[in-house]
Amino acid sequence: MTLQAFSLFEPKIPMHITVMKNEVVWALEPKSGGLYLDVTGGAGGHSRALLECNRAARVVTFDRDPDAISKLREELAEFGDRATIVRGAFSDLKDWAKDAGVDSVDGLIGDLGISSIQLDTGDRGLSFKAEGPIDMRMDRSSGETALELIERLNQDELANVIYQLGEERRSRRVARCIKQAAERGELETTLDLRRAVVRAVGPRRVGGIDPATRTFQALRIAVNEELLELETLIEAASELLAEGAPICLISFHSLEDRIVKRAFLRKETWQRLTKKPLVASADEQRENPRSRSAKLRVARRQPREEAE
Ligand SMILES: C[S@@+](CC[C@H](N)C(=O)[O-])C[C@H]1O[C@@H](n2cnc3c(N)ncnc32)[C@H](O)[C@@H]1O
Repeated sequence: MTLQAFSLFEPKIPMHITVMKNEVVWALEPKSGGLYLDVTGGAGGHSRALLECNRAARVVTFDRDPDAISKLREELAEFGDRATIVRGAFSDLKDWAKDAGVDSVDGLIGDLGISSIQLDTGDRGLSFKAEGPIDMRMDRSSGETALELIERLNQDELANVIYQLGEERRSRRVARCIKQAAERGELETTLDLRRAVVRAVGPRRVGGIDPATRTFQALRIAVNEELLELETLIEAASELLAEGAPICLISFHSLEDRIVKRAFLRKETWQRLTKKPLVASADEQRENPRSRSAKLRVARRQPREEAE
């Protein structure tokens, strides 16, 4: 067997390609002695870019996923004490800062949502393409799984989640089919969940997104309380960032982008550097299809009023 033929049968190793790296480095412009927060470490791509850009800058990298933390320790080891890795949700930023004795930082990047590694690892339960338990938690050591959420909510409550967090117009029908599958004992894996959604909304249309996309998005956002996390992060950032320090937030769906856009409109706190969100270049979009839905908004912390 030739090497090429053999490689066809190699299992795909999940990997993540960092989105809009140059734009983030441009916006944060790491300076010597500066302290930067990467609140969504993932595979470490943005942290690495900042640490490589200025060899006298420091980065604190957060992630709530213990698997990501193990990989980040290896990935950023070469930077020694310029890179600090912290396991935890970014909603706990203020507590971390208090414990670490940090009262001001020089920039922050948040590349929201999940990484391709999490998405493509079947047993995380985040993908409708790979079979796995209906879990969807970024931190599998705590909280409710998506299946437990489905079992706890009644049909109307489930429909509301799917409508509000997935913007799925046929949410009532989808919730009914999911609940029916659960009652019949036919809801164990992500592929069972997808089948229940397809029963409700029909198969994929040519050129359209997978029929399960919106429902999976809604359940994932609910399980990880992603919108509340984001609001808490922006609030904490407004307290921690030094005057004039930039914040970069990359979102991948309209619910997140709306929260960022509205927050940056608060003129007493933020000076917007991007009125319209930046998007990935045509080259990047071609090379990394995931970057097509990325929207980057950048703002600077306004000077604080005396009474603030
Ligand atoms: C899109 S990936 C980041 C990829 C990273 N920028 C890179 O270039 O490799 C998002 C990461 O943020 C983490 N994450 C998402 N929400 C979080 C939260 N509320 N607190 C901490 N980490 C979070 C996820 O576990 C995931 O690893």
